This record gives sequence, structure tokens and C-alpha cells, in this order.
Amino acid sequence: MPELFEKTALKSLELENRSVRSATWSGVGDAKGHVTDRGPEIYGDLARGGVGLIITGFQYVMPNGVGIVHQVGNYDDSQIDGLTRLTSAVHVENGKVAAQLVHTGTKANAKLFPEPGRIWGPSPVTDPLSGNLADEMSSGEITQLIEAYAAAASRSKKAGFDAIQLHGAHGYGINQFLSGFFNRRGDGYGGDIKRRYRFLGEVMEAVRGEVGNDFPVLIKLSGHDYHEGGLVPDESLYVARRLADDGIDAIEVSAGSRASNENLMPSRLHIRNEEDEAYLADLAAMCKQAARVPVMAVGGIRSPGVISSILSEGKADYVAMCRPFIREPHLINRWKSGDLAGATCISCNGCFEAAAEGNGVYCMVDKKLKNRQ
Ligand SMILES: Cc1cc2nc3c(=O)[nH]c(=O)nc-3n(C[C@H](O)[C@H](O)[C@H](O)COP(=O)(O)O)c2cc1C
Ligand code: SF4
Repeated sequence: MPELFEKTALKSLELENRSVRSATWSGVGDAKGHVTDRGPEIYGDLARGGVGLIITGFQYVMPNGVGIVHQVGNYDDSQIDGLTRLTSAVHVENGKVAAQLVHTGTKANAKLFPEPGRIWGPSPVTDPLSGNLADEMSSGEITQLIEAYAAAASRSKKAGFDAIQLHGAHGYGINQFLSGFFNRRGDGYGGDIKRRYRFLGEVMEAVRGEVGNDFPVLIKLSGHDYHEGGLVPDESLYVARRLADDGIDAIEVSAGSRASNENLMPSRLHIRNEEDEAYLADLAAMCKQAARVPVMAVGGIRSPGVISSILSEGKADYVAMCRPFIREPHLINRWKSGDLAGATCISCNGCFEAAAEGNGVYCMVDKKLKNRQ
């Protein structure tokens, strides 16, 4: 029976246990997308805390792929230095780290582009969150973006990352190509889910061509968009099977976006007890059944008991958490030491505000309490 504190491996990447720090925009990028000094500090501390695999915040692979302030970029070789300092800080603590790669598509923020540029999307659709009306990408621009993912993957390997994770969730670029809401193209990249998969399939091929067969390539995939006209589980399971055929090494199953109903966002609020926890674990289990590749569950996982059930019932092979590690970077070592109380994060989402300050993400709760005194 798989357990949390069990050594595992993704290809040749050996992992100390089955815990994963899910990708977290950590507010450690400067205006040019270079990693700030807070980057190595935050990531080194996480590694010291015992988590098996750390996935970075989403790194934008093209200048017009940036979505939010203080996001780290991975589109220019000048960014390799900072990324290398980050991976070194993790490796010194014997940790492992994967780079999450994204183009935010219609959720890009043109005010943050280094030079004036257009908002790209699969089709001229208005994004429900950003309000951007996208310019439909030409086939040449699609090729350019595929090459940008491959170049970012290669840069990540050079910077010492142990793996990469494609961001295929939460209404960003890859998810937009998969979604019938965003993708209304009449060419070979649009139509039924088989055709909408084409872009991701070509990204996979290009990335694999750059990093080789031994380097783990992971994806965070939305199992359900929870959005009118968006991806539904039948379609996401098809995508998972295609990814398995195309050589994906693990799928982290998330769902929804910030445009979803508040109760269906990826980072749901107010997880109070075990019944509220692991709200996407059943989607992860469906994916594991369908695709037969290692699966990571994410979303509201907070306690060792729930983790034990997810692993022992075979719903997932790994458990990923984000907010709990913001409040308690050493959570895994705390559990390992025998203190099995659940994570103390109260799922209030105050850390989004904290990351936007640009000094490294932190838990807002104690600060708010102090301000009230
Ligand atoms: C501050 C913050 C930043 C996040 N940044 C990312 C990100 O860069 N990429 C991503 O895929 N998900 C991101 N997420 C979503 C988390 O990875 C995760 O899917 C979600 O919060 C649910 O897990 P949790 O309940 O353990 O927090 C972020 C969430 C928070 C709270
Ligand atoms: S601010 Fe703190 S308690 Fe609130 S969700 Fe973020 S880490 Fe958890």
C-alpha cells in the first residue's frame, strides 16, 4: 500500500516521499521576469521542510505570456542565472524542483509586456476574467509558441531543474486550446477534442525533442473547467490518455479557474474539516483509471488521514498542496516528526495579496491578526 513517507521515482528522478508542493506564484520575479533574492530563500526553505518535489510558480515562456505582477519569466537566456540560483538553493538542501511553464493566453496582462504586444488566444473570444478580447493566433504564431515552450524547457534543464511541468489548467494558454469555450478555430487546431488536443500534442513533441527521453515532463491538467462551454471530464480523460501515449510522466489533476463559481475555483475557500478536503481527488482517481500514468491529487488536501486514504485507495500516487506550504514550509517534516495535526492554513486566500507585494509570498493571517491588536 503506497504511503506518504515512501521513496518513489519519476523516471530517474528519485523523490524522498509522495508529497508535492503544487505550483505557487510566489512574487519572486522582478519587472524583467528575473528571479529576485527572495526566490532562493523561499525555495531553499521549502526544500529544508522535507517536501518531496517542489513545483515553481508559473514561469511565462514568451514576453506576451505574462499574466501577473512579480511573475518569473523563462523566455530569455538572461533569466537562466536567477533560475540557477533558485535550483541551487533547493539542491543544497537535497530537495527536488520542477519548473512550471505557462503562456497565460487571453489572461495576459498587456501592461506588463516589456514592449507593446497583442493578446494571443486560440480564437477571438473575450476572457471572462481579464476582459481581454484575444487576437486569434495565426498558424505561424502557434508554431512560435510551441517553440517557446521547447526553448523554456531546455533553459529549465540548463538552469538545473529536475523536471518541468506544463501548465495545462486554470484557463491559461494550453487549457484554452483544449477548451471548446476558448477554442473555436476552424483549422486543424480546433473542432472536437481530438483536434483541440493537437496544440498540446505538438508542445509535448517539441519539449520532448529538447529535453530527451530521461527528463521528467509533467502536466497540471484541468479535469473539469466548471465553465459554460468549457472542458468536461469525458474530454479531459481523453486528453489524459493522449498525454500518456505521448510520453507524459505524471499528471496533476486540478480543475476550474478564477472565472468559475467561487465554490469551484482551484483554491477553494474555508476548508474546515476532513469532509471539505481533497475536493478534486475523485477527478484524480478517474484520470488514474483512464490514463495509467502517475497521478498527483491537488486541492484542499490538509491532513495526514485524508492523504493516507487518497494513497491507499489508489486515487493518486502523489499528494500536492499549495497554501499549506505557504503557512508552514516545514509541514512535511512536522508530520514526519510525529506531530500529525492537520495543516494550520485556514484557506482564506490572503496569500494572493501577499504575493502581489513582490517580496515573496507569505501567510497573511498572523499579519492581519497583529494589525487588529
Ligand atoms: C498564492 C497562490 C499562487 C498560486 N499559483 C499557482 C501557479 O503559479 N500555478 C498553478 O498551477 N497553480 C497556482 N495556484 C493554485 C495551487 O497550485 C493549487 O492548485 C490550489 O491552491 C489548490 O491547492 P491547495 O488547496 O493546496 O492550496 C496558486 C494558488 C495560490 C494560493
Ligand atoms: S493567507 Fe495563510 S491561512 Fe490564508 S490561505 Fe494563505 S497560507 Fe492559508
